[in-house]
Amino acid sequence: MNYDLHGKVVLITGAAGGIGSATARELYVHGANLVLTDTRQEAVDQLAQEFDAQRVLALELDVTDSAASRQVVHLAVERFGHLDVAFANAGISWKGTPATLRTCDEDEFRSIVEVDLFGVWHTVRAALPEVVRNRGQILVTSSTYAYLNGMANAPYALSKAAVESMTRSLRAELGSTGATASVLYPGWVNTAIAKVAFGGNAIATKMNEIGVPPFLNQPVGPEVIGRGVVRGLRKRQPRITAPFRWAPISVMRGIFNVFTDWHVAREPRLQRLLQQLEQEVVRNRPQG
Ligand SMILES: NC(=O)c1ccc[n+]([C@@H]2O[C@H](COP(=O)([O-])OP(=O)(O)OC[C@H]3O[C@@H](n4cnc5c(N)ncnc54)[C@H](O)[C@@H]3O)[C@@H](O)[C@H]2O)c1
Repeated sequence: MNYDLHGKVVLITGAAGGIGSATARELYVHGANLVLTDTRQEAVDQLAQEFDAQRVLALELDVTDSAASRQVVHLAVERFGHLDVAFANAGISWKGTPATLRTCDEDEFRSIVEVDLFGVWHTVRAALPEVVRNRGQILVTSSTYAYLNGMANAPYALSKAAVESMTRSLRAELGSTGATASVLYPGWVNTAIAKVAFGGNAIATKMNEIGVPPFLNQPVGPEVIGRGVVRGLRKRQPRITAPFRWAPISVMRGIFNVFTDWHVAREPRLQRLLQQLEQEVVRNRPQG
């Protein structure tokens, strides 16, 4: 362990969500001061009440707004005197029925990329001067979707691959500064965003059951990710994979992807479900 979180100031986006709040709790136990941000101000205010008021700042932030992201960093520094770690964690997926590239709404595609890619970039960019000044860390929430096939979830998956790539570049670019950057790859986690694949949508749930082997298809509690994040930050790890059962797939992704891409394009049950999904999207599309 070579990075003591005690007294460090950590900014979290999407802090009101499952992974954000679980990580905030874990960081707090390890002595960090917290800047909790989310589009849902009431929810971050409520989370903040769990902590000593001296050690927490709760702010509304929509990460798609780059000026607001800079303002949040400014307010964090004004309050605590420094910012050491930025956890760019806010993310969204489909609002309703998952869609394919052929059937998805163009505006929804764009808004997912706005949050999951540009939102992350805004947080990273805004925090970098302070993080570099304090030889701190940037942590970006990607996903196993960065390397798994993103069928029926393409704007999400491509954004997760993009932020992974961005963070790898950043780690190299920060090499001589004393600051660093790390990618978080959560597997399935029991939070609002994952509900679609666990009962929220019947077809997506079935696709998940068929497409993901049972030992990987068990969602973990968000506190597992929180613990992984704290461990990873303390070690300044380049990659944080949680739960750990995904680590072998992550390491073997090159070979694994050749097989899975071949398989999912031919698997008859998955192909039938994709067709049903497309029919559902077309059926639910607003008329006019
Ligand atoms: N749950 C999983 O299975 C899983 C797996 C891999 C990666 N992830 C990623 O983990 C991160 C956290 O997700 P979660 O699982 O806690 O889901 P969640 O839905 O509980 O939390 C997401 C949070 O982001 C916030 N948010 C949405 N749009 C925002 C915006 N424009 N600006 C600021 N905040 C915004 C939401 O209000 C919410 O509080 C996301 O990036 C997600 O993609 C989740």
